[in-house]
Order: sequence, then C-alpha cells, then structure tokens
Amino acid sequence: MPEPLNVDEFEAAARARLTEPVYDYYAGGAEDEVTVRENRAAFQRIGLRYRVLVDVSERDTTSSILGTPLSFPVILAPTALHRMAHAEGEAATARAAAAAGVLMTLSSISSTPMEDVAAAAPGGAKWFQLYHYSNREISEELISRAHVAGYEAIVLTADAPLLGRRERDLRHPFAIPDGIEAVHFKIRPRTSGVNDSPLSDFLNQPSINWTDLEWVHAASPLPVLVKGIVRADDAKRALDEGCAGIWVSNHGGRQLDTSIPTASALPEIVAAAEGRVPVIVDGGIRRGTDILKALAMGATAAAIGRPQLWGLAVGGQVGVEKVLELLREELSLAMALAGCRTIGEIDASLIA
Ligand SMILES: Cc1cc2nc3c(=O)[nH]c(=O)nc-3n(C[C@H](O)[C@H](O)[C@H](O)COP(=O)(O)O)c2cc1C
Repeated sequence: MPEPLNVDEFEAAARARLTEPVYDYYAGGAEDEVTVRENRAAFQRIGLRYRVLVDVSERDTTSSILGTPLSFPVILAPTALHRMAHAEGEAATARAAAAAGVLMTLSSISSTPMEDVAAAAPGGAKWFQLYHYSNREISEELISRAHVAGYEAIVLTADAPLLGRRERDLRHPFAIPDGIEAVHFKIRPRTSGVNDSPLSDFLNQPSINWTDLEWVHAASPLPVLVKGIVRADDAKRALDEGCAGIWVSNHGGRQLDTSIPTASALPEIVAAAEGRVPVIVDGGIRRGTDILKALAMGATAAAIGRPQLWGLAVGGQVGVEKVLELLREELSLAMALAGCRTIGEIDASLIA
C-alpha cells in the first residue's frame, strides 16, 4: 500500500489492519452519527480569507499552552485502549508525541499504566484525563498517581454522564480483546452492548455535577481543565470554578447525537473565556487548514482523537509521528498560503 498522503488515507490503511469491531469502536459515534459528520463538515464549510504578498519564506509553527511549548498547536485528545491498535499502545503514542513536540492527554481508560506511559517518554508533555467516579477514592487515587508520575494537568471529561448509544458497538457487539484491559481499574470489564457495555462500568456516573468539579479541584494539586463544553454559560461557570482551561468538545460525536459541531460552538466559548484561560477544540480536525481555522476563531490549540489511532494502527510510534508531521506540514503550508508567518499572525480576519 502506498504511503498515506493525508489523514483519511491513514484511516483507510488502519481499517485494513484492524478487526471490524475495533475499527467500528474507534470510528463510530452515537446513533445516526450526525455529529461525527457535522464536526468535520463544519470546519470544511468555513472559508478562508487569505492574505497575499506577505513574505512567507520563513514560518514558525511553534506555540505553547499553560507554559508547555508545542512544536505546533496540536494536542493528542484522550482516547481509550490504544493497545487495540498496536501492541505498544499508549507507550508508542507517548513516544511519538514527545518526538513530535506535542502534548499527549492520556485517557483514564488506558490499556497501559500511566506510570509506564510516562516512563516511555520521560521528556514528553502530558496531561491526564479523568472521568468522574461515584467512588471518590478511585478519582483520588488516579489524580495522585498522575501527579506523582509527572502529568501536568487533569482534564475532567464532563460530557459523559452516561455512555452515548453507539449502535456499531451494539451490532457486533464490541468486546475488549483478550489480553487487553482498562488497566487503571484492575478488573476486566463485562462484555456486551452499550449502557451495559465493557466501558459503561467506568462511564455511567449520571450524578456528575458542578460540585464534583469543585471536589476535583480540591483534590488535585494540578491545574484542572474541563472537557466537553459547547456553551458559553457552562464555560463561564467552569471559569468561576477556577478551571485552568476549557476544552470545547462533543466527544467526537460519540455522546449526544445532533449536538452542535464544535466549530460552531467555539466562537461563543472563546468570547466567554475573554483570553483568561486557554481554549482547546476537538472534533473533526483532519487537515492543517482545520487547525488554522480553529486558531483563527481564537482556539489556543486543536486536539485530535481518531487520527492518532489511525497512525498507531498503521505504524505504531512511527505511524503517529507521521500523522503529526503531516498535520504540521499542512498547517505550515496553509499558513504560507494564507499569509501568516507565525501562529500569532493567525487572526479572526482570516475567516469570513
Ligand atoms: C476511540 C475513542 C475513544 C475515546 N476515549 C475517550 C476517553 O477515554 N476520554 C475522553 O475524554 N474522550 C475520549 N474520546 C473523545 C476524544 O477525546 C475527542 O474528544 C474526540 O475523539 C475528538 O474528535 P475526533 O476523533 O474527530 O478528532 C474518545 C474518542 C474516540 C474516537
């Protein structure tokens, strides 16, 4: 198979390597998958008002977030169970992120212990994603382990009080393959359909509310970001609670189907944040132009979920590095063609 030229070709190559249930678990979304498609389409629909006759022979894609330098403003979004894509799992992803100079967010539902992921890429920047558990001892232990292992922030995912109805996973039904576990939970979950799924044991915490965020803040020596926000009032509330950053996301269309695409939600959240904290956006970012548009709308960084899994399935660490390099090159070219020499020059005038 020829070398993939873009993220979609990485997906096709990954699909050829994965079993159907695993591919569908990674690729799929809730119900009719409207939001999965719309996340992407919304970025594609935004037109760029490029600037001409700027000397773009030198370009600099570097930026930073919460004091962490980034070779370009991309973050790996937390995604579960990387060992289903490649035997080296999250360790390979972490090494790739460190080599590419981007930040990795490790999922709670990791198939590799967080300490081993940290040890695999000692210099790499990393955050830890937390779900809410009604048993607070679980959260407390995960937060403290993350702190000790050198993770630099906690990302609380707020958009999953119950697991979305993912019909592809019901059809097979999806089961975590033998020999792979959600290692932070020390048990091999049950297998069967959604909301009685292998993952719902960890995810179904419908009581999650703002007092839990308060509790996470109190329990965490690390800064706390909230992920899954699509409305300005929620963003403001998160800021009032002292959050260090807002992560605009609808979980890649895997939770509430027909929720608004993140590109549509981003402007009101950026306005609500008033530059006080970084704003991250994910959902449907597949091109350098998508990253450019996210930044033009005021995001500090764009995050990618599925693309890292496609790279991992195709070539382990090297595959993830290739996906990141592709996106960095696409961004650099898009900057040149739009008349931007630095990340700082990407501004709201680029979009209609
Ligand atoms: C297979 C898969 C697993 C995911 N697991 C998690 C998770 O454990 N925690 C979380 O906060 N988000 C999780 N997400 C959501 C991602 O963090 C991110 O919001 C989403 O994938 C972004 O959309 P994209 O895949 O279009 O880039 C997952 C997404 C996918 C595709």
